[in-house]
Amino acid sequence: MASLSVVNGSQDSENLAAMHAACFRDHWSSECFQSLMEKTQCFGFIANYEQKDCGFVLCQYVLDESDLLQICVLPEYRRRGIGETLLEESKKYAQANGIEKIFLEVAVDNFSAIKLYESAGFQKIFERKGYYRSADSSINAAVMAYIF
Ligand SMILES: CC(C)(COP(=O)(O)OP(=O)(O)OC[C@H]1O[C@@H](n2cnc3c(N)ncnc32)[C@H](O)[C@@H]1OP(=O)(O)O)[C@@H](O)C(=O)NCCC(=O)NCCS
Repeated sequence: MASLSVVNGSQDSENLAAMHAACFRDHWSSECFQSLMEKTQCFGFIANYEQKDCGFVLCQYVLDESDLLQICVLPEYRRRGIGETLLEESKKYAQANGIEKIFLEVAVDNFSAIKLYESAGFQKIFERKGYYRSADSSINAAVMAYIF
């Protein structure tokens, strides 16, 4: 089973960027993570499995609302319940800190992530048209919410 540690502000930005690059085509730089964590209120967790950091979740919050910005698990560690563990820890932290709603955006064709969010109790509330764009295509985002 994975153990979790709290994301420690900008000290973890390189680690987050490296994991993010292994999981997403359009990845965020360490400067991007660092600037985000310096300028906004964030919380997050890093999953460690057999001595290896293998995924993380990062959320931003304002008052009683939070946005789940990123969640990812390295490909070779998927389908072991690590994404679910990260999500559940985020919900626990949010609830303990007076957050009443968590929102997120997910590409409508990202079936594995949608399944994960649905099984954690998130519900789709609407779609943003053409939210994810590349040079030759665009895809809608489902906006999902978890209400405590
Ligand atoms: C989405 C992601 C974080 C899931 O991480 P994970 O550790 O593999 O997820 P879990 O093992 O905790 O899965 C929990 C549940 O989610 C669903 N699920 C996860 N991956 C799935 C897949 N490939 N196909 C179908 N269902 C899936 C299942 O219901 C699963 O429960 P089960 O294994 O008992 O059937 C991971 O696939 C990932 O990093 N994807 C790339 C990054 C990404 O798209 N992030 C989301 C951006 S919005």
